[in-house]
Amino acid sequence: MMFRSEILGCGSYLPDRIVTNEELSKTVDTSDEWIRSRSGIAQRHIAADGQATSDLALRAGQRALEHAGISAAEVDLIICATTTPDNTFPSTAAKVQSRIGMVGGAAFDVQAVCSGFIYGLAVADNFIRCGQAKTVLLIGAETFSRILDWTDRGTCVLFGDGAGAIVMRAMPEDENHDGGGNGKGHNSGRGVLSTHIHSDGTHYDLLYVDGGPSTTQTVGHLRMNGREVFRHAVTNLASVVDEALDANGLQRADLDWLVPHQANKRIIDSTAKKLGMSMDHVVLTVEQHANTSAASIPLALDVAVKDGRIKRSDLVLLEAMGGGLTWGAGLVRW
Ligand code: ACO
Repeated sequence: MMFRSEILGCGSYLPDRIVTNEELSKTVDTSDEWIRSRSGIAQRHIAADGQATSDLALRAGQRALEHAGISAAEVDLIICATTTPDNTFPSTAAKVQSRIGMVGGAAFDVQAVCSGFIYGLAVADNFIRCGQAKTVLLIGAETFSRILDWTDRGTCVLFGDGAGAIVMRAMPEDENHDGGGNGKGHNSGRGVLSTHIHSDGTHYDLLYVDGGPSTTQTVGHLRMNGREVFRHAVTNLASVVDEALDANGLQRADLDWLVPHQANKRIIDSTAKKLGMSMDHVVLTVEQHANTSAASIPLALDVAVKDGRIKRSDLVLLEAMGGGLTWGAGLVRW
């Protein structure tokens, strides 16, 4: 039997503490004007002392299950996309598994930095399509505040902490007819239509952490060549969104929503422009959340689903780029 992944629900969690650009400029040589004009960011949430990535992931996961009307006992796979795990090992997903009340099944982390949620979506979707998982809790969770060099104003102003999650369920292809769309075959039903992931390790040094267990035995700090990352982001994202549309025989005009990774408003503007999409159809949370890496897409999705913008059967394009370099896209009929 052939399966497709239906998305049953979503949830998110942000730490209580909000740090505005104004507040940051008291300890970092920067200004609200500089940060807003270069990135579109106005504030970020920062995890409390002692609050770990798994704490954020757990809350987002619980909220997603609640929204989906699914009990943790029904979940047979947890995937957590994170670059800021609680510990080098075990996985953050394993900690969430023990605390959320899931019995049996499997749990593991996926590491693709800011593209982590798209990579996780691809992994989860393939597990479901081949029949190896029925109900997947996919979480993106990060505490980037822990790996920032707060003396490097070129990077520390850009990131924040948070978590988002979705629940995916296997649905037999032949029951999947209520989706709308153009009715011309496989792109008409609901669920994940396709995922597309890429990496190019020759650009490893454009965005990396200068520490790790096998090199420095320290956690390290984020380092970035912002200009180069920006340049690659604009090119790679434009090509992967077209790849996703072409794979499904869909046109740019068919899209209802773009839910991009929230790194930088200028990168998002450029992708929307290339797609010919008005910003009214782009979900933008970078102003409030800053860049939460693997958490940014499920956080943005949750905002737009809960405020009623994204509706059942809407065609939603998700895309991201991050360290690796990694990039990817996923096309979903909600
Ligand atoms: N406040 C004030 N001034 C600053 C700050 C700051 N926070 N940071 C840098 N500056 C100064 C620099 O020192 C420099 O001053 P100088 O000209 O006197 O030397 C000046 O501002 C320009 O610095 P640049 O680094 O060249 O600034 P740029 O215009 O390239 O903007 C930015 C930097 C915002 C990082 C941009 O390159 C960018 O958005 N890159 C994309 C990076 C990104 O989004 N990464 C996220 C992870 S990857 C992803 O998710 C896609």
